[in-house]
Amino acid sequence: MITFHVLSLFPELIEQYCKTSIIGRGAKNSLIKIKTVNPRDFCQDNYRRVDDKPYGGGAGMVLKPEPYFLAIESLQLPPITPIIILSPQGQVYHQAKARQLANFTDIVLIAGHYEGFDDRIKTLANYEFSIGDYILTGGELPALVIIDSIARLIPGVLGKASSLENESFNQDLLEGPQYTRPPSYRGLNVPPVLLSGNHAQIALWRKQQAIRQTLKYRSDLLSSNNLSKSELNYIEEVKKETEHK
Ligand SMILES: C[S@@+](CC[C@H](N)C(=O)[O-])C[C@H]1O[C@@H](n2cnc3c(N)ncnc32)[C@H](O)[C@@H]1O
Repeated sequence: MITFHVLSLFPELIEQYCKTSIIGRGAKNSLIKIKTVNPRDFCQDNYRRVDDKPYGGGAGMVLKPEPYFLAIESLQLPPITPIIILSPQGQVYHQAKARQLANFTDIVLIAGHYEGFDDRIKTLANYEFSIGDYILTGGELPALVIIDSIARLIPGVLGKASSLENESFNQDLLEGPQYTRPPSYRGLNVPPVLLSGNHAQIALWRKQQAIRQTLKYRSDLLSSNNLSKSELNYIEEVKKETEHK
């Protein structure tokens, strides 16, 4: 069981998503828990203001430190808890981080809004993550991306644990193509090997397709450490093939 504590000015965005589909079922089965905390509830002025104009001038409004410090201090957390602040300036989040974080019992996510955080709020966090090189209006979608990617690694959340085995980013490879019925549709045919019933041949074909897909789109992921000699030979074959095209 893992508890996600999400600091957000728009908790309903988090709650709605986490009630739905696979993540919702995980919560219903007590495999994950989502607790939202609204920093606005920790404002100490009559107007409940969470933001203010930036020092030095500039556009937009900056999130004030006091509500965020008080909101974090209100949480009861185990001594070693990842506290993640969502920000486009952070390190880019990836699957290996999801696997690491899935080992904790509690994770805190701090979602920003408007022009972002007063920088002192970042001292509350031990991780600063971006979900990619683009700007969103708020940290709720990034928080949900992180919750979803971790929750589905918790045993029991996905129907079959084997669903995780051949997924993209496992063993530094993208997943290859997948097919379902019918075997032929509008002249597009499922590769015959998948209909052969020969499990060894299917496994080999899948690995080769994963290598091809990774070479084509994300060759930066391929690390020779995770590949066998025959897989490395296959890479050379594919490279030669593409050179001759
Ligand atoms: C409009 S953004 C602030 C952008 C900030 N002024 C900048 O230029 O870096 C508001 C909030 O959305 C969240 N956010 C936006 N894009 C994000 C991304 N790519 N990754 C993680 N969080 C993001 C952060 O929590 C951020 O504080």
